[in-house]
Amino acid sequence: MKSIDVCLTPDLMPLYKVQDRTIVVVDILRATSCMTTAIAFGVHSITPFAKLEDCLAMKAMDYFTAGERDGKKVDGFDLGNSPFEYMHESLRGGKIAFTTTNGTQAIARSVGADEIIIGSFLNLSAVSNHLRQIQNNILIVCAGWKGKFNLEDTLFAGALVEMMKDQFEPECDAPLAALQLYQCAKTDMHAFLQNSSHVKRLARLNVVEDVKFCLTLDKYDVVPVMREGEIKKL
Ligand code: MLT
Repeated sequence: MKSIDVCLTPDLMPLYKVQDRTIVVVDILRATSCMTTAIAFGVHSITPFAKLEDCLAMKAMDYFTAGERDGKKVDGFDLGNSPFEYMHESLRGGKIAFTTTNGTQAIARSVGADEIIIGSFLNLSAVSNHLRQIQNNILIVCAGWKGKFNLEDTLFAGALVEMMKDQFEPECDAPLAALQLYQCAKTDMHAFLQNSSHVKRLARLNVVEDVKFCLTLDKYDVVPVMREGEIKKL
């Protein structure tokens, strides 16, 4: 039987083997939800960067520069980190250079995996359908917040574990913990997350609608996959 594991924060990555695995990177609020939305709306590619200056330099090469630091749009960037910004016709066919506080850092830490997939609630079923068709063991990497655990990424991990549990065996207790948490939360994830740190942080920035949107299940039937440094539609 194939195995599934969950890395609850990127700072735990040294404990996990990435080679020969398919990694699903998740940052529900909001990086991987934005990436999924952008790919669903027809952007050509998203190039993720860990460093702000590397991302900004892509402006000279006709990329849209996008992302945030501490939840706020970066001065001089074309786009911030709200999924609603990625629904515009003007982005169709365009290339985006993207950097975020946690999401693109988690992607950088996943480099070396056989395959890197971008996961969100918006494309949960599309991701699980893809994972069923491949032979690799799976690692879900939760982006968390600056190395710390968060609830929303863990809920996504639990949702994916629930969908995959007939075909994949948990490698340690993290998938079991994520599954238990998801089963407590799934009837109303929005209410469950009301006291969570990033929901409160975003509320202080008047970001409220993004949270509801990012918790929507299966809005898009797309699987963004990273190949040679670029995220594109599978
Ligand atoms: C991140 O990557 O840290 C997040 O997407 C932060 C945010 O909500 O803007």
